Amino acid sequence: MEKPDGDRAPSLAHVYLHLVGSERERPQDRRAADEVAAAAPALVDLARQSTRFLMEAVAYCARQGVDQFLDIGSGTPGSPPVHEAAHAVNPAARIVYVDSDPGAPSRVPPRHFDATRRVWQIKAAAGDTEGILSHGTVIRVLDLTRPVAVLWTSTMSLIPDHDDPVGIARAMMEEMPSGSHMVMSHVTSDGADPEMLAYVHRRNPLFHRPLQLRRRHQIVSFFDGLDLVGPGLVPVTDWPAPADPPVVLPLSGYAAVGRKP
Ligand SMILES: C[S@@+](CC[C@H](N)C(=O)[O-])C[C@H]1O[C@@H](n2cnc3c(N)ncnc32)[C@H](O)[C@@H]1O
Repeated sequence: MEKPDGDRAPSLAHVYLHLVGSERERPQDRRAADEVAAAAPALVDLARQSTRFLMEAVAYCARQGVDQFLDIGSGTPGSPPVHEAAHAVNPAARIVYVDSDPGAPSRVPPRHFDATRRVWQIKAAAGDTEGILSHGTVIRVLDLTRPVAVLWTSTMSLIPDHDDPVGIARAMMEEMPSGSHMVMSHVTSDGADPEMLAYVHRRNPLFHRPLQLRRRHQIVSFFDGLDLVGPGLVPVTDWPAPADPPVVLPLSGYAAVGRKP
C-alpha cells in the first residue's frame, strides 16, 4: 500500500466505497481495498452493516414523514443509494449529497440532478455548517422550516478530535427545526478483536484520513439534546433489531437515530 502523497495516496473514503460495492474508484484505492479486504475482512463486514443501517434509517425517517435529506460525507453521491431508499417511501423526497472530496464521481444518473429536481450534490467540508446551509443549492432545495434528516454514516469516523466532531454535529442540529432527525454510524474500539485493533493502528498512518475509533460514551455524546428512537444507540448490526442469529463483528460500530424534540 502506498504512503500518503497527494492524489496518488489511497483515500480511505474511496477504499470504503469500493468495499461497499462502488466500481468507479481509482486504481490505488482498488488496490488498497483489495489489501484491506484480504487482511481484514471484518472491515468489509462493518462497512456493509453500516450501509444496511443507513438504508433502514433513511426508510424509517421517510416513514416518519421526513422528506428532506442532507447526507454529509456522502461519498460518491448515490453509492449507497440514499435517494432510492427515500424515494421508495416517498417519491417526492429531496436529497442533497455533501462531500468535500472532489474525486468522487457521481453514480446518480444525471437525470436525477437535472430533470426530476429531487437529488442534488454539493462540495463542502463537513465542519462548515454555515457554508453548507448558505449554499445556493441547499437554500433552493431544502426548506429549513420543516424537518430534515441529517445523515452522518461513517463520516465522523474520519473526523479527528481536534476538528471537534461532536461540535460539528451539534452545530448542524441547532440549525434544524423540531422534528428533524440525525442518523449516525460510527466505528468503535469497544469489544474489538486485538488483532483487528493492531491492524487498524498499523494501517492508519498510510491513509489520508485515518480511522477514528471511539468508545460508546464518546459516540453517545453526539446525540446530546436529541431523543433516541427505535432501539437507541446499539451495535450497528442491531439496528433496528438484532439479526437471528445475532451478528457479532470483530470490529464493530454503533448506530443510532436521534429526533430533535
Ligand atoms: C467512509 S465514507 C462514508 C460514505 C457514506 N456516508 C456511507 O455511509 O457509505 C466517509 C465520507 O466522508 C467524507 N468526509 C470525511 N471527512 C470529511 C469532511 N471533513 N468534510 C466533508 N466530507 C468528509 C469522505 O470524503 C467520505 O466520502
